[in-house]
Amino acid sequence: MIHLLIVGVLVVVATLGLGLLLTQTGILPAQASQQAITIDWLFDIHFWFIAFFVALICVIIVYSLIVFRRKQGEKGDGVYMHGNQRLEIIWTIVPIGIVLWMAVIGGQTLSDVERRDPQAITVDVFASQWSWRFQYEVTTAEGVQTAVASDVLVLPRNQQALLRLHSQDVIHSFYVPEFRVKQDILPGGEKYVRELRITPNTNGTYTVQCAEICGQGHYSMLAEVQVVDGAEFTSWLTEQAADCNLSDAECGLRWAETFGCLGCHSLDGTAKIGPTWLGLFGHAVELTDGSTVTADHNYLLTSIVDPNAQIVAGYQPNVMPQNFDELLSEEQINQIVAFIESLGN
Ligand code: CUA
Repeated sequence: MIHLLIVGVLVVVATLGLGLLLTQTGILPAQASQQAITIDWLFDIHFWFIAFFVALICVIIVYSLIVFRRKQGEKGDGVYMHGNQRLEIIWTIVPIGIVLWMAVIGGQTLSDVERRDPQAITVDVFASQWSWRFQYEVTTAEGVQTAVASDVLVLPRNQQALLRLHSQDVIHSFYVPEFRVKQDILPGGEKYVRELRITPNTNGTYTVQCAEICGQGHYSMLAEVQVVDGAEFTSWLTEQAADCNLSDAECGLRWAETFGCLGCHSLDGTAKIGPTWLGLFGHAVELTDGSTVTADHNYLLTSIVDPNAQIVAGYQPNVMPQNFDELLSEEQINQIVAFIESLGN
């Protein structure tokens, strides 16, 4: 009886210690969405069950090893037991009950996380090797319907965002740890578009991380997420929808950011997946076939619309998307070239 009491107390102490360690010490990333609160609640329940069962098993094993060990001078084995119907019934019924209950709260949590808000704003997310593009539908002050593209995902706080996920090549996965929810992104067109609903609840800067191995640049498939106040979001969107009325080179920088060029091309001389743009214009470039060309206006233009035509030595073909002449207008392409030219010398 005294053994039962001691083991009971030790199990309670170990459960509390382990449970608090798992739930209170920030093992999970910060919570930044409504869905994260719901999901973490479910996580914490599981953490407490894990703490209890680990404590129960470990305390009994360690206690038995120490207290019931064969002491000096003792001979023979312990008492053998065979069968115990009451115990067997208990340890069958109790786990079945726990598992069924967990299935119920799991289902409730899932339906909670997927709850649809008719007021949700829609963002089309385009994933490709190895960048992200986010597209918003906007109606301008003049009543014109237009699309805004960005390489940063800007979301208003406390409003549900419905992300429609498109892949332009292979399977990717949309994941922001602070939002908790995650969704695979499938290629194959409209039929395979998947949806994800997120209600951010904390202003801040986060990172979308591709969570599906998608090729050699998978590790670099990151994008910034900004959660801002509703008013700030609206003014950002209005500003983006306006025509670019800066100089050609400045507009070029804007398109380079918007269309994800800078994910692979640095502006500071470091080599990424593609060559740097710094000091590129007007200089000699060695190609994989051993020949050398000068990076003039035409070379840059061709490199954007037909990237496989001339591959720079040390770099891989088929890495750069080959549909920029469809994505971008002629003016936008010329402005990007003007921007690269401004970085020459
Ligand atoms: Cu996209 Cu990994």
